[in-house]
Amino acid sequence: MATNKFHSWNDWRDMARKKVPKFVFDFIDGGAGNEAALNRNIDLFKQISMVPRVLKNNSHKKITINILGNQCGFPIAIAPTGLNGLIKPRGDQLIAQAAAANNIPFILSTAANCSIEQIISKTGVCPWIQLYVINKAGVLKLVEKIREKGCEILVITIDVPVSGNRLRDLKNGFKMPLRPNFSLIADCLNRPQWSIARMMDKPLSFPLLESDSSFKAKADRLFSRNFDSLSWNDITRIRDQWPGKLILKGILHPDDAVEAVRIGLDGVVISNHGGRQLENTVTPLEMLPSIVSVVKNKLAVFLDGGVRSGEDILKAIALGADSVLVGRLPLYGLAAGGESGVSEVISMLETEMTNSMALLGCNSLEDVRKIMIVNRCPSISFN
Ligand SMILES: Cc1cc2nc3c(=O)[nH]c(=O)nc-3n(C[C@H](O)[C@H](O)[C@H](O)COP(=O)(O)O)c2cc1C
Repeated sequence: MATNKFHSWNDWRDMARKKVPKFVFDFIDGGAGNEAALNRNIDLFKQISMVPRVLKNNSHKKITINILGNQCGFPIAIAPTGLNGLIKPRGDQLIAQAAAANNIPFILSTAANCSIEQIISKTGVCPWIQLYVINKAGVLKLVEKIREKGCEILVITIDVPVSGNRLRDLKNGFKMPLRPNFSLIADCLNRPQWSIARMMDKPLSFPLLESDSSFKAKADRLFSRNFDSLSWNDITRIRDQWPGKLILKGILHPDDAVEAVRIGLDGVVISNHGGRQLENTVTPLEMLPSIVSVVKNKLAVFLDGGVRSGEDILKAIALGADSVLVGRLPLYGLAAGGESGVSEVISMLETEMTNSMALLGCNSLEDVRKIMIVNRCPSISFN
C-alpha cells in the first residue's frame, strides 16, 4: 500500500469510502438513529487530556500484555464484525492474518463469512469466537462444536436483543439477504473493482451456523434479530458447559458487571456496539471508571466504541481498562487495502501508542495507569 497517504484513521476511512459501494461503506460506518451514540463514542475521548511527565528515561517501553492467558503485542483485539466477506472476499481471513502477524487477538463473529477451520488453517491460531445466542435450544450444541475445534475463548454478545434502527441501511435498501434494486445496482456499478471481486467470489455464507439451513434462513435469523428472551440463566447454563474463558460483550451498567463476576465470567466488554444499537445510550468511556471500581481484578475489562488512535488506547488504559477492541478501524483498512491495509492500521495504532507513551514519560502500561488526567466531561467521574 502507498503508506505515505495514510497518516490517521480518517485517511483510512476516506480511502474505504472510495473503494466500496456506498451501501457497504454505510453499513460499516453507520450507527443507530441520528448516530448520537456513535459520534459521542468518538467525541468523549477528546474530553480527556493527559498530563505528560518529563525526563523519565522511557527508552525501554514495554507494551505487551498477557490477557486471559494470551500474550498480546499491545492491548488491543479485533472486535467481532459480521459480513466481512461483503467488504472483501475472505475478509475474515484477511483480518485474522493481519491480527496474527501483529500478535493481537482476532474475534470471529457468529455472522462471519469464513469458517473457524479456515481461520485456523491460514493463521495457525485459534480465533476467539463471538456468539449470538439466536437459538437457545441449540446453543449448547454450538458451544460444544466450537470447543471441539480447539477454541478457548468465547465472547457472548448480549446487546442485540433486537436490531438497531440503522437509518443509513434503511435508506440504502440494504438488508440481508441482499435484494438488488435499481439504486443498489447503480451503487455497485460505481465501484466496478469491488463488484468484479464480489462476482468472482463464492456467494456469501454463514459457516458458524448449522449447515442444514439455507442462506436465507440463516440471514433471517441473524439480521431480523429477536433474541429478547435471553436472561442471566442462559448465560449461566453456557458458563457451566464451557470450560474455556467466557467474556460477555455489551454491558454498560456496573450492576451487570457485578452479575458477570457472580456467575463466574472471565471478562466483560464495556460496549454500546459501536453506537449501532440504542441511539442515545451512554458511551463505554463514561461507564468505564464506575465499572472498574466494582469489578477491579475480578475479571478482565475490555472497552470498545470510539477508539480511533493510539492516544485513545492509552486513555482507556489510564481509566482502568485492561485492553480495548477496535471494530470499524480494521474494516476501513480491509476496504482500503485488504490484509495489508488491516496490518497497516494495526501498526499505525501501535506506533501512535508507543510515541504517545514517550511523550507522556511512560515506560509501561503500569505507568500509563498512573498518569494524571484532566477530565472535561462531567459524566466521566473517577479518582
Ligand atoms: C460493520 C460492523 C459489524 C459488526 N458486527 C458485530 C457482530 O457480528 N458481533 C458483535 O458482537 N459486534 C459486532 N459489531 C460491533 C463491534 O464488535 C464493536 O462493538 C464496535 O464496532 C466497536 O466500536 P468501533 O467501531 O467504534 O470500534 C459490529 C460493528 C460493525 C461496525
